[in-house]
Amino acid sequence: MNYRHAFHAGNFADVTKHALLVWLLDALARKPRPFLVLDTHAGAGFADLQAEPATRTGEWRAGIGRLLADKPPASGGGGTDDPLARYLAIVRSLGLYPGSPALIRALLRPGDRLACCELHPEDHAGLRARFAGDPQVGVHLRDGYQAVKALLPPPERRGLILLDPPFESPDEFATLARALRTGLARFPAGVFAAWYPIKHRAPIRDFFASLEGLRDLVAAELWLRAPLDPGRLNGCGLLVANPPYGFEAEAPALLDALCARLAEPGFGEGAAVTRLADE
Ligand SMILES: C[S@@+](CC[C@H](N)C(=O)[O-])C[C@H]1O[C@@H](n2cnc3c(N)ncnc32)[C@H](O)[C@@H]1O
Repeated sequence: MNYRHAFHAGNFADVTKHALLVWLLDALARKPRPFLVLDTHAGAGFADLQAEPATRTGEWRAGIGRLLADKPPASGGGGTDDPLARYLAIVRSLGLYPGSPALIRALLRPGDRLACCELHPEDHAGLRARFAGDPQVGVHLRDGYQAVKALLPPPERRGLILLDPPFESPDEFATLARALRTGLARFPAGVFAAWYPIKHRAPIRDFFASLEGLRDLVAAELWLRAPLDPGRLNGCGLLVANPPYGFEAEAPALLDALCARLAEPGFGEGAAVTRLADE
């Protein structure tokens, strides 16, 4: 448990995940029936980018810092027709940089629920304090992978499961693939979104191969540089199982907009949305 997300909050990989997450949550909210969001690796909820430890790495400056430096559109943004403006309007409205639990909570409707799992005692305590007394949010000091077994399927029978592990351990891709299999077996209709780092391609090829047999999988990826250096976070991806209608059509423009703002041109940057398995 050495990983502390606060060092990396708001970096290019965090904003890419969060902008896609907002799109997915808006898509779920198109239908009136309530849903559960399970955030298996929730983090602390919010990060103060003007304070330690975010200032020590300064990673956010090349991520959310750049995005917020763009002026919001005259309309104020926030329309679902521009998913990046929509995400940024939510970030602006929440003050501190919102992690996944804060973004999810902001988009729950009355009747929807959020269950957060976080194993680090400090981050867990922060989350618990933030959501104390909130009847729509449960905060659990427990292994998020175990929660995929224990908390699914939800009684709502509708839901989004965000799997966002720290990738500290060399077998994280294998653990993530097992969790996806377990989760989809227990809750076949759930939307599962699993974040992964792109350093070089080989581990990702193996990850995709390990998902063989699962249906309806799409990978949404952004990379700042050609992913050739295994020692560097060159990009990131979100593997989505059961993507809501419109994801494949709309995610490319969102990723392209992010890539245009976050990458230094000329180093092999790019973005792609790839269908890995049919419905
Ligand atoms: C990448 S961060 C999460 C960031 C957060 N999802 C967000 O988008 O703002 C991963 C988090 O998982 C926590 N963690 C590590 N192993 C865990 C486990 N097995 N179960 C639950 N949380 C875990 C870490 O303490 C860390 O806060």
